Amino acid sequence: MFCEEGVPVDTMPTKVYIRTFGCQMNKRDSEILAGALRRRGAELVDDWEDADVVLFNTCAVRKHAEDRVFSILGLLAKSARSRGQRKVFGLLGCMAEEWKGDAFKKAPYLDLVCGPNDLYTLVEHLEDIVSAKRRWAFVGGERRSDEFYSRGAYFTVPTGESTEPTFVIVMEGCDNFCSYCIVPYVRGRERSRPWRDVVEEVRMLVSAGRFSFMLLGQNVNSYAGGMDFPDLLDRVARIEGVRELSFATSHPKDAHRRLFEVMASHENIRPYLHLPMQSGSDRILRAMNRGYTYEEYLEKIATYRALVPNGYLSTDIIVGFPGETEEDFLKTRRALEEIRFDNAYIFKYSPRPFTKASSLKDDVPLKEKERRHQELLTLQKRLSAARRPSN
Ligand code: 5AD
Ligand code: SF4
Repeated sequence: MFCEEGVPVDTMPTKVYIRTFGCQMNKRDSEILAGALRRRGAELVDDWEDADVVLFNTCAVRKHAEDRVFSILGLLAKSARSRGQRKVFGLLGCMAEEWKGDAFKKAPYLDLVCGPNDLYTLVEHLEDIVSAKRRWAFVGGERRSDEFYSRGAYFTVPTGESTEPTFVIVMEGCDNFCSYCIVPYVRGRERSRPWRDVVEEVRMLVSAGRFSFMLLGQNVNSYAGGMDFPDLLDRVARIEGVRELSFATSHPKDAHRRLFEVMASHENIRPYLHLPMQSGSDRILRAMNRGYTYEEYLEKIATYRALVPNGYLSTDIIVGFPGETEEDFLKTRRALEEIRFDNAYIFKYSPRPFTKASSLKDDVPLKEKERRHQELLTLQKRLSAARRPSN
């Protein structure tokens, strides 16, 4: 069914290794990239040592993860050099967009830097990148070519049945500008795919044997591809052969009753909501530019729980945001106790370039951040266990 016409027949295909860090969006980007590269005649390999081109698709949300990427890449480059192997090393994704040309100064072994909105350019230049003895930086792209989405998507159809959900991108980018977050600067403004493209992709995936799907976007609830997100969800849930459907991620300020109604009205939509709260203190929520108060957050989840009985609820929390006092922290602690999330991902605040909060003094000492982090992890572990009895 998938026409392979036009695939260059290369007797010695370029071997590419891709390693992915970060969110589901990045995983899907890597799959699409792999599909588009294969279509261009490349061979994807599982071991970096077999590769001519070593690509790291990276996340920029926290500094800790960045340090790890540079350190692993550095080790690989050193190891290749010591054996006289000539490989292309590429930094892709959100860190590439953040560092741009400075990445070459930070990591002199790099040959290629490519932001998340320029991945298709990389595909087009693969042969040049491999043959040229120069450095390439593809950054600052405005939006991803439709070609990347649709053609790339078509050529990454996983074969056979799988119980893992297949990711389908519905929108990307972010216009919310939470004061701690680098995403709007590295992923760019919000763009939604036309709903017909989304539906067509899901249909195509169903006919390729897939039945479980996750609709992806940095903030799916601001989807605007010809209908709103609840309508899109409803549409996709009605496609024949879609047995399981979920979505991520939702910003609380845009998650409304109608979303929960649609979730409740389809058997095949998983009763699973990830709704990042970030803090239980209104003062901190305001400083984070989140656009809701704790009270408003509580009302949302009360509506969710009323409409979707036994619905699973998870969240993200940041401790140690600039100016977070013990009192603010205790409000977050109390919020976890009051809400009883099924799961909570807890992060220590990390100042990120370009963000508004990075101009504030990072005044919660690391030791204190670590204490708050540990305290909430312990608390949540207990709460999660109580919600999910193991018998
Ligand atoms: N520091 C710590 N955590 C952050 N997150 C986003 N930016 C930062 C930052 N600068 C967390 C948020 C978000 C999750 C994906 O990562 O909780 O929801
Ligand atoms: Fe990380 Fe955000 Fe980029 Fe995903 S979109 S990889 S979470 S910075």
